[in-house]
This record gives sequence, C-alpha cells and structure tokens, in this order.
Amino acid sequence: MNIQSPFPSEFGFACVSTEDLGDYQPHPEEMKCLSPKAVEKRRKEFYLGRLAARRALQALGVAPQPILKGERRQPLWPEGIVGAITHTGDTAAAVVARKDTACGVGVDLETLGRNVSFRISAKVCTEKEQAWLEEVPNDKDMRLKMIFSAKEAGFKAFFPIEHLYLGYQDAELCWREESQSFAGVILKAAGAHHPVGTAFEVGCRVTEDFIFSFVSLPPLDLRT
Ligand SMILES: CC(C)(COP(=O)(O)OP(=O)(O)OC[C@H]1O[C@@H](n2cnc3c(N)ncnc32)[C@H](O)[C@@H]1OP(=O)(O)O)[C@@H](O)C(=O)NCCC(=O)NCCS
Repeated sequence: MNIQSPFPSEFGFACVSTEDLGDYQPHPEEMKCLSPKAVEKRRKEFYLGRLAARRALQALGVAPQPILKGERRQPLWPEGIVGAITHTGDTAAAVVARKDTACGVGVDLETLGRNVSFRISAKVCTEKEQAWLEEVPNDKDMRLKMIFSAKEAGFKAFFPIEHLYLGYQDAELCWREESQSFAGVILKAAGAHHPVGTAFEVGCRVTEDFIFSFVSLPPLDLRT
C-alpha cells in the first residue's frame, strides 16, 4: 500500500513496495553498505529503502547518487540535503529536504499487525506517556506502537545533525488529537543546537496497514 506525502511540497518524499522493485539494483557503492551475509529479508528492505531514497531525491530535483551509510548506520545524503529512510516488510518510505528547509527529517513505518510486547512500555515510555497508555486499557498496545514509531522518527531526525544518541527516555511525547500529532520535548541535549527542552512535533497516522510517523525540524538559521 502506498502512503501519500504528509510533508509540504518543498520536501521530497517517496513510498515504495515490493512491486516497484522490478529489476532495480542499488548502486554498486551502496551495495558495499550491505553485508554479503545479509539474509533475504534484510537484502529486500535495504533495496526498498535505497529505491525510496532515490525517488525522494528525484522528487526534490536532485540527481540520483549513491546513499552510503555512516558509522551509526545513518544514511549519508548529498551535500546540503537531510533525509531519512524507513522500511517494514514489503514497504519503505524516504523523505529528503534541503538544509534551508529543515535541519533534520524523520520517518518511521510500523506494520500494524506486528506484535510489540507491552513489557517494553517501561523502556520506551516515560511515566507520563505510560499514563497516556493506561487511559485506554483496550487500546494501549496501539498507543504504545504510536509512541514507539514517533520516537524512532524523532531519533532519525535528530541523530544525523550532531551525532548525539537519544534514547527512548530522552524525549517525551504528548498526544494532540486535533492535529493528530505528538508534541515532543527532548530531555537530553541533542547537541549545541538542540538543548534540553527543545520542542518538536511528530505527525502520526494510523492507516489500514501501518503506523506512519513523520517529523521535520526547522532549519538552524531560523532558530532563536
Ligand atoms: C536507528 C533506529 C531508529 C532504526 O529504526 P527501525 O525501526 O529499527 O528501522 P526502520 O526500518 O524504521 O529504519 C531503518 C533505517 O534507519 C536509518 N538509520 C539507521 N541508523 C540511523 C541513525 N543512527 N540515524 C538516522 N537514521 C538511521 C537507516 O537508513 C536504516 O535503514 P538502512 O539500514 O536500510 O539504511 C532504531 O533501530 C534505534 O536504534 N532506535 C533507538 C533509539 C531511539 O529510537 N530513540 C528515541 C529517541 S526520541
């Protein structure tokens, strides 16, 4: 199933599924990022992610080029571009933007059917977030998956900027029904540009098949 871009038109976005792969092959340099021992599932998700990245760059008017990987597995985008990749099962999505549009972007897809053990809630959620889960005893698994997905999207946006690792307890999210998004705040500095207390917003959509989370962080020169 295809997901439409939730981003404004100055972002490049693409969502691809297995049928789009055809005879697509990642660039030989990109293939060096994939372990020769990678199992079929990993190989496929890597192909899907790189194809989504390629199409997202095309949507932004950027010529296709190999997207290699950094020390912490983060994708390395062309000069002046930020981006993020997500994949799950047969589907992948990618978003890219110029640095004068966003200093970081993130996306995350979780398959709805995937079981997330409720035992991880204490690891993933702060106390306030756990209280939000407990408001709906019959639906707390869904809320846990939404928080999990939104935090992964947030991580992908923040990490590449200054390479500081944010754990699940280093951000707190508060659901806003009216905008179908989480208001987030980071509880640990994500670098000089993003001190403790930096606010961010993560959109979160529940479709028939997925939970889809997306975030963009304002360009650095627009920050006060
Ligand atoms: C890195 C991480 C976010 C990936 O998420 P995931 O749900 O496992 O997998 P997804 O399919 O959604 O995304 C995988 C893609 O993320 C990207 N990615 C991996 N590490 C990354 C990093 N350090 N920074 C940015 N993007 C990264 C890669 O493009 C990867 O795909 P690829 O290996 O094929 O290139 C996750 O494994 C992780 O480490 N999370 C813990 C930290 C966290 O989420 N903290 C929350 C703080 S708000």
